[in-house]
Amino acid sequence: MTVYSNLVKEISKYDDSINHIVKLSSMAAYDEETGFATTIGSIHREEEKIVEESGIPFTFLRPPAFMQNFITQFGYTIRTQDAFYVPGGDAKLSFIDARDVAAVAVKALTVDSQQHTGKAYTITSQEAICYRQTAEILSKEVGRRISYIDIPEEDARKGMKDSGMDNWLVDAIMEFYSIIKVGHASKTTNVFEELMRRKPITFSQFARDYAGAFK
Ligand SMILES: NC(=O)c1ccc[n+]([C@@H]2O[C@H](COP(=O)([O-])OP(=O)(O)OC[C@H]3O[C@@H](n4cnc5c(N)ncnc54)[C@H](OP(=O)(O)O)[C@@H]3O)[C@@H](O)[C@H]2O)c1
Repeated sequence: MTVYSNLVKEISKYDDSINHIVKLSSMAAYDEETGFATTIGSIHREEEKIVEESGIPFTFLRPPAFMQNFITQFGYTIRTQDAFYVPGGDAKLSFIDARDVAAVAVKALTVDSQQHTGKAYTITSQEAICYRQTAEILSKEVGRRISYIDIPEEDARKGMKDSGMDNWLVDAIMEFYSIIKVGHASKTTNVFEELMRRKPITFSQFARDYAGAFK
């Protein structure tokens, strides 16, 4: 696949001058307990293997869904229709704030890098919550009713295809929504707190900090 050959090319171009690679991966890259991997998770795992084989010291960050998806993916309908549309049922997700992911990346690159070499960090929030709860929190923090609309799979597929997404990506995202409904995105860890000596940002804090993005 192009993505892999590009990665090999980029790494080999600079491998003499790279001291440490921090790769933004995904919690779906590898589930140690079940050996389970999704399409997008498998892509990340293949990329991780290329980094491992490069011989360059590395750290993998394996976060679950970002809180910021509520801005990048759902922000438009939240602003224009006071609602977001997701085929997510009652699935619980251990959403992480992308700022916390970035903080761990900075630490791994700048503070005691050796200590983080060869590690794969599954960094999550402390508590998994469902989309209905995120809607309640957003409503409270943004100051108006924001609704979660649990849409059928066909509607989600149509929306993504109409927006110009490739079929393989639509399938991969639908695969994600089917596996979150059986709990694959709800795992929580203490890894963030152990590394950063503070608690990860909560969804309420995220909603307060970004309230302006939903207006
Ligand atoms: N979103 C999540 O919930 C989530 C969870 C776990 C892991 N991840 C992983 O995190 C990564 C980012 O996901 P995302 O959802 O944040 O994606 P995104 O919203 O599409 O953002 C991707 C960013 O990468 C930039 N970019 C793309 N190609 C680039 C290139 N060749 N050189 C420099 N910058 C480039 C884009 O810049 P432009 O805007 O200028 O195009 C954009 O800012 C992915 O690997 C994803 O699998 C995401």
